[in-house]
Amino acid sequence: MKQIRIGLVGVGTVGSGLLQLLEKNREIIKKRNNLDVQLVAIATRTPERAKAYTSLPVSSDVISITTRPDVDIVVELIGGTTTAFDVVHSALTHGKTVITANKALLSEKGDELFSQAWKNGVELGFEAAVAGSIPIIRTLRDGLSSCEFEVLCGILNGTTNFILTKMEEENWDYSVALKKAQDLGFAEADPTFDVEGIDAGHKISLLSSLAFREKVPFGDLQVEGISKLKSIDILSSKSLGYRIKLLGISKKTSGGILTKVHPTLVPLNHPLANVMNEFNAVYYKTVESGAGMVTGKGAGALPTASAVLADLIFYASKFGVKDSIIENNIFPKSKKAEEKENAARYYLRFSTLDKPGVLAEIAKVLGKNNISIASVQQKEVDKEPVHVIVLTHSATEGDFKKSIQEIDEMSSIIKEKTVAIRLLENL
Ligand code: HSE
Repeated sequence: MKQIRIGLVGVGTVGSGLLQLLEKNREIIKKRNNLDVQLVAIATRTPERAKAYTSLPVSSDVISITTRPDVDIVVELIGGTTTAFDVVHSALTHGKTVITANKALLSEKGDELFSQAWKNGVELGFEAAVAGSIPIIRTLRDGLSSCEFEVLCGILNGTTNFILTKMEEENWDYSVALKKAQDLGFAEADPTFDVEGIDAGHKISLLSSLAFREKVPFGDLQVEGISKLKSIDILSSKSLGYRIKLLGISKKTSGGILTKVHPTLVPLNHPLANVMNEFNAVYYKTVESGAGMVTGKGAGALPTASAVLADLIFYASKFGVKDSIIENNIFPKSKKAEEKENAARYYLRFSTLDKPGVLAEIAKVLGKNNISIASVQQKEVDKEPVHVIVLTHSATEGDFKKSIQEIDEMSSIIKEKTVAIRLLENL
């Protein structure tokens, strides 16, 4: 039986999940994969906390794990882009294969790390970095490797999907739902990464590279989160036949790959609309296979740890066999998509005074900027501001931005910043 020796760096939510799974599934892995996975070293910046999960000695020297001759594979689960970079870089340099769940690290510094892996003839596995338990990395790099992608579009952040679900189904406040997501171990150490769309941005940037074999760096992405949404947006969208989802979208245009993250009104009959709670999903369209979707739990200790363990088994089983995805993963930078390709229909919520001429003023600005109104809704209430909800026909990002800026400057009638949410295109 093949034996593989693991050094684990980081014992937070996912690290502790991995410790549980290594214990629970050890015999199954032996039988099924003819592989004996032995955990030989653990390091974390908070050794005291880790002792609750393991009886092995725990070191606070995270770099020391990466140079130990008795470690074959280093698992990096500390997160962040500073110490984690040093750990992964050092491990690769010392000839260790590395498994990581760190999407921020790969999205921002992946080129350097993949080159280092390739140079040293080792592997850098990252199945757990995107969409938790869903085997989406393997699906894109292997299962769909013969296909030409048209679009990739996903619910890639469990925390925000959980928040949106609970706001709709349980009528929870945004902050209550976020706190619960943190308690359940879904959220990032800094939850602004979740709610402002940064985490989903890191993930769509990685997925997009694998699908299109061209890189759209995270810094080039248009990223918007969910923090400005209120219950009224969720309820109004539903009454119009949509559900709001935070989507990462990447699509081929005639100019280049357009990649972005924003809250999106998804028609209720679209498969993405019914992905709830901390579940993630990736919807894709390729020329050859048509449309498809994979879904599963996108956050949490055991779902994410199961992907780390799957990577461990995969790379341990083919230890010493060079994996060409590493070389292929260093993709050329994509050309920027043209501005006119970035168009959408919009849901606009104007918070206005309830007096004559207000609607006409708003309509005038939209019309002047080539934006056509598809529908208007206003509920009768006895307190200002009132909310006027407009659905538009397709408008370019430039025309939309100009209009909203102009409308938000009309301080005599507009009382709060306008909320705008894009509608899902016809996918
Ligand atoms: N904070 C992330 C999420 C964890 O909520 O999806 C998994 O990457």
